[in-house]
Amino acid sequence: MRITRASTSLDGLLDFFQIGTESRTSDDPANGSEEASDFERFMGSVLPQCLEARYQVQDSDSRTDNIGTVLRPLSRYEVSAVIKYASVSDAAALPSPVHAAILRKLQLRRERRRTDIQGLDSVHSNSLTSLPSQLPPQLPQSGIFNFLNSIRTTRYEMSFLSRLCGYRPSKDSGLVAVDWETRSPWMELMADVREHYSYAHPASAQSPEVPVPIRYVSLQPSHLQQVHELLARVFWDGIDVSDLLQSSPERCSVIAVYGKIVVGAVLLSSPQEAYITYLAVRAGWDNSQIATTMLYHLITLNPHRDITLHVAANNPAMLLYNRFGFKAEEFIVGFYEEYLDSQSRASMNAFRLRLRR
Ligand SMILES: CC(C)(COP(=O)(O)OP(=O)(O)OC[C@H]1O[C@@H](n2cnc3c(N)ncnc32)[C@H](O)[C@@H]1OP(=O)(O)O)[C@@H](O)C(=O)NCCC(=O)NCCS
Repeated sequence: MRITRASTSLDGLLDFFQIGTESRTSDDPANGSEEASDFERFMGSVLPQCLEARYQVQDSDSRTDNIGTVLRPLSRYEVSAVIKYASVSDAAALPSPVHAAILRKLQLRRERRRTDIQGLDSVHSNSLTSLPSQLPPQLPQSGIFNFLNSIRTTRYEMSFLSRLCGYRPSKDSGLVAVDWETRSPWMELMADVREHYSYAHPASAQSPEVPVPIRYVSLQPSHLQQVHELLARVFWDGIDVSDLLQSSPERCSVIAVYGKIVVGAVLLSSPQEAYITYLAVRAGWDNSQIATTMLYHLITLNPHRDITLHVAANNPAMLLYNRFGFKAEEFIVGFYEEYLDSQSRASMNAFRLRLRR
């Protein structure tokens, strides 16, 4: 019987125990001492081979490092013994960081073995990290050093301190969708301005344009002021939608935001009533499907209720609602009289539209 790492044959040992079990079934009292001597004889014959195989395995796993020291991975028994020893001595005093790190590595290695993560284990047990070879001294590149020297601050989330103390990125609360593709008239205008500036001042270095998406989110307290300004510009003064923050903003609102600018808003009165109170898009951001996208998400967020709204009879937004399947169910004369200025070009009459579900 030759024991190797690749194929460990236990046939002889199993045969021995088979014989032992059979002989134990007879009631002969002499069996006990015979068993012991059989066992010793058997072990005596296989032990040298076992030890030889073990040394061979250890030899094959050993490596010599750059300063000539022969290193070999710890056996399972040695790992357990070290962990046990270290854990006992830990109880008395606070472990040093190095001590704690080694103990953790050993425990991790033991867990990997237990859970049988082959790939990771074999990498760790067979490859020892060699010392770095001596590199020829390199001339510093002044550009890189100048750039590094010019760094004065590091954002906390990028800092070494955040890696030590931990950092949880603030959740983009209420995020509904992100659109990297749409280019609104305002974005195109800004790109034109930059382009013209760089033509006019070819010598001055311009920082490259950083792409920013249009995000669709639910109403946050930080949006309130801009939402009120937008609604005052598009509808009338004095609109206050702050109540929505107390009810269910995640179901009753979709706000389109570009960076920190609110570029559109659609709001429901409440999830129960499902009445669209306001839909507006900021000037310079219209005709870019922002209203369509906001409306689509608001409808999707409220799947089981009819959605209703009023729209001025001459408002082209009728086309938009029509595309989503809203149908006129009532024509109300003078609906907007108490809200709109008498000089307003918007019709005072309104349709009540309903999207049936
Ligand atoms: C109505 C409004 C919200 C549309 O916003 P928007 O982001 O430009 O709309 P979209 O780009 O998603 O356009 C969707 C469709 O609506 C229709 N539409 C919207 N505004 C239009 C307008 N001024 N003229 C003609 N059609 C218009 C079009 O059918 C358009 O489809 P198209 O782009 O294929 O032609 C925006 O013009 C606005 O804020 N208007 C003032 C406030 C208002 O009237 N709100 C509705 C009251 S209930």
